[in-house]
Amino acid sequence: MTVFWRSRVGTDRGANDGMVGEVARSHTGESRNLGQMARILLTGGAGFIGSHTAVVLLERGYNVVLLDDFSNADRGVLERIQRISGIEIPVIEADIRDELALTRAFSTFPVDAVIHFAAKKAVGESEVEPLLYLDVNIVGTVRLLAAMQRVGVSRIVFSSSAAVYGEPEICPITEAAPAHPTNVYGRTKLVMEGMITDLVRTGAIQSAAVLRYFNPVGAHPSGLIGEDPRGVPANLMPYLCQVARRRHPFLRVFGDDYPTPDGSGIRDYIHVMDLAEAHEFALRRTLGHGGIVTVNLGTGTGYSVLQLVAAFEAATGKKVPYSIMPRRPGDVAECYADASLAAELLQWRATRTIEDMCRDAWRWESRAAF
Ligand SMILES: NC(=O)c1ccc[n+]([C@@H]2O[C@H](COP(=O)([O-])OP(=O)(O)OC[C@H]3O[C@@H](n4cnc5c(N)ncnc54)[C@H](O)[C@@H]3O)[C@@H](O)[C@H]2O)c1
Repeated sequence: MTVFWRSRVGTDRGANDGMVGEVARSHTGESRNLGQMARILLTGGAGFIGSHTAVVLLERGYNVVLLDDFSNADRGVLERIQRISGIEIPVIEADIRDELALTRAFSTFPVDAVIHFAAKKAVGESEVEPLLYLDVNIVGTVRLLAAMQRVGVSRIVFSSSAAVYGEPEICPITEAAPAHPTNVYGRTKLVMEGMITDLVRTGAIQSAAVLRYFNPVGAHPSGLIGEDPRGVPANLMPYLCQVARRRHPFLRVFGDDYPTPDGSGIRDYIHVMDLAEAHEFALRRTLGHGGIVTVNLGTGTGYSVLQLVAAFEAATGKKVPYSIMPRRPGDVAECYADASLAAELLQWRATRTIEDMCRDAWRWESRAAF
């Protein structure tokens, strides 16, 4: 995997600093679809969802360039993407807030579209460090959009979140539901959605797809890439996997008195490979049409925490001890998507089961040393 240059916000950036490699081999397969020869830049492409999307795009004949500052990713993922895909791709180590680095990236690798994953994403942390979230998510996205405009890239697929809905009044949640985020993270996503909508409306951006993810879990079936949280995982599935590995004594289940069949909270878990594939469908639409679409990406089916624990135990044969704790402030009883708009506009539907999610998450968690 060739890293082309490194650039950090606030560092000295000379004209040729950090150019450390040659152009890597790019993929030119036989024509299979509209995006076959398109070159796509993935900000945050070394992260959980970005790395899986990179693999899917490479398999489907796209040329891929990754840009990441590795603030929440291990560089080892680059070699593993290459192992899965058999393709070496260019990697730019840069911060999305560094507009000069972005402009240089676009000049070196002219692209047809951007998929913008890079962001801070921990809800709890966003309440403790709100300015960091405003800076990385909002300022970073402004700089990205400005660099795109400067070089004439006008198609973007954006990672948004079900967090924009806040506490849903009705489930399943449609895209028309009111957006009232209840934390800084969700608010930054809504602001970024608004910025992109305005740029499409005013013609600065030709085409955009805003993707509101529900609860991505699972891993690539090879077990080579997956979710790799730093420290104690904030999300349920990685924590559950770590309990199964005896890294924590038990899983804390927050609330068993919600108005749900077993009393625990219900969420819409979606396999990360389904999510990655949805990006390719969104990309196809973005490359082929103007305007903006905003769609939920979920399965449309909710599972409770206790159902997820039971599915995990059945799929892996591992026991997951748990303890019921009081409800957490801000948690809602149920949150799952109406996924029909994505089916209609993108011709995409999730196909993988809760068992697939558990099995693949566990394969990744219990992986042998690479
Ligand atoms: N995983 C989820 O549960 C979830 C749910 C809804 C939405 N999302 C959104 O999807 C996107 C991807 O999420 P993920 O789970 O893959 O997260 P992740 O943290 O694994 O990936 C994000 C990547 O962006 C990089 N990054 C962060 N700040 C950067 C910066 N300033 N410049 C360049 N790179 C930077 C990180 O190093 C990381 O590789 C995010 O925008 C996130 O908000 C995630």
